[in-house]
Amino acid sequence: PITVKKICCIGAGYVGGPTCAVIALKCPQIQVTIVDLNQARIDAWNSANFDLPIYEPGLEEVVRATRGKNLFFSTNVDKAIQEADLIFVSVNTPTKKSGVGAGFGADLHYVESATRRIAAVANSSKIVVEKSTVPCRTAESMRTILEANCKPGCHFDILSNPEFLAEGTAIQDLFSPDRVLIGSLQTQEGKDACAALASVYANWVPTERILTVGLWSSELSKLAANAMLAQRISSINALSAICEATGANIDEVAHAVGYDSRVGPKFLRASVGFGGSCFQKDILNLVYLSESLHLPEVAAYWRQVVEMNEYQKRRFSKTVVDTLFNTITGKHIAVLGFAFKADTGDTRESPAITIIRDFLAERAYITVYDPKVEEAQIWQDLSEACPDLTLEQIKKQVTIAHSAVEACKSQEAIVIATEWKEFREIDWQTVYDNMTKPAFVFDGRLLVDADKLRQIGFKVKVIGRGERL
Ligand code: NAD
Ligand code: UDX
Repeated sequence: PITVKKICCIGAGYVGGPTCAVIALKCPQIQVTIVDLNQARIDAWNSANFDLPIYEPGLEEVVRATRGKNLFFSTNVDKAIQEADLIFVSVNTPTKKSGVGAGFGADLHYVESATRRIAAVANSSKIVVEKSTVPCRTAESMRTILEANCKPGCHFDILSNPEFLAEGTAIQDLFSPDRVLIGSLQTQEGKDACAALASVYANWVPTERILTVGLWSSELSKLAANAMLAQRISSINALSAICEATGANIDEVAHAVGYDSRVGPKFLRASVGFGGSCFQKDILNLVYLSESLHLPEVAAYWRQVVEMNEYQKRRFSKTVVDTLFNTITGKHIAVLGFAFKADTGDTRESPAITIIRDFLAERAYITVYDPKVEEAQIWQDLSEACPDLTLEQIKKQVTIAHSAVEACKSQEAIVIATEWKEFREIDWQTVYDNMTKPAFVFDGRLLVDADKLRQIGFKVKVIGRGERL
């Protein structure tokens, strides 16, 4: 059997960083080097005060326990490739912005350039593991590139090992994953490579949770898992619209439906819409794959999950405008939360961005507060979302606050866009006293105790509840 002694991870992002830091923690006998072309990111991973480039609960502790011992961060990609027996490719695979498949297909050029680099510099055989989320059969392209460009005597085995961690709970998810999925060719070499990677995970993951399947099933399972998870949210959000129109309560509906053990209670939380770097991208990727395979009905089915999500965001913005007497022009609104979910500083595809863009189009004044998102990130996201406005124009309408209470001061309405726990614990009486009346709260995350807020005097609208203000 092949024993893995040195691992290289190409891509020090949200997946490569936490995943390989946890491997280093759980496998002290393995040396792990995480490399990236982005010097600033690597510098942050190496920073003396552990000011890491991403925020994840528990991550700092893992990096403190391993960095400099068996975990290293570097921009020397070639050296790390040459030394490793096993290489994770964990680079970004965003939706293509132009060319064939623009707006749907995955941009695979980062995966391809990492693969070409491996072929160019490797001087011994390697196991190459596709960690990035990719369309079905990408492993085949990687193998073709590696075999066409490698040095004599070098042999490459390709595995697919998609990552299922969710941001905000990445460390917990990595410590005890529901499953680890490894796809390989069903040849003897493929199976041996698969066993080598499985033995790395077996250092802490129970073997019955390590699933081994064919390469193409593994690649497709990742897209399928994300599509089905997002579909649950779009389903519950579609029902939330019916609840608001009928007086039903989405919490009660989700509870009643989720009690059926075949449906299950998790991931049925109505919201202002799902965000994050994965769901939309991976579904669009599946839509594109279906279309390329001449399966238009399948493509249309999955596309609807994304369309429902767009509808939910639009619907929420419209509720705010309608409720505030059909105009928010010149009004002051606090938006609490900018990250796409709680416990992360990540803003990719955050519904907060869409909502603020809609409010800016109505010429409202917005004050934003998020406990983890950097100010520069907020300006960058809003500039990208509002290409018709200059940053100066945006800054005339948007203010960034440093606490929730400060953000809400003198506002006419509060919009809860991210389910940060601290928003539940705000001193709502003080907030109320300092607001313009009538004071409105729009809860896009089923977060607050609406009855308690109404007792204070707020007018409260909660997503998926048809009750009166
Ligand atoms: P990211 O953008 O945070 O990180 C990717 C990193 O790869 C960047 O730092 C980039 O500089 C680096 N990179 C790109 N090309 C490179 C090259 N040729 N050599 C060296 N470094 C290179 O992305 P992420 O969120 O970590 O996602 C990575 C992959 O994992 C994607 O395919 C994504 O779909 C998938 N995924 C993400 C999540 C998530 O929660 N973010 C979960 C599961 C799977
Ligand atoms: C997701 C998948 O969960 C994970 O397995 C995969 O590896 C990457 O994509 P992530 O995007 O990090 O993870 O977070 P997730 O917890 O799935 O939330 C995605 C979005 O859905 C967030 O905006 C969240 O607020 C929203 N959501 C989630 C809901 O609106 N309702 C829910 O019930 C659950």
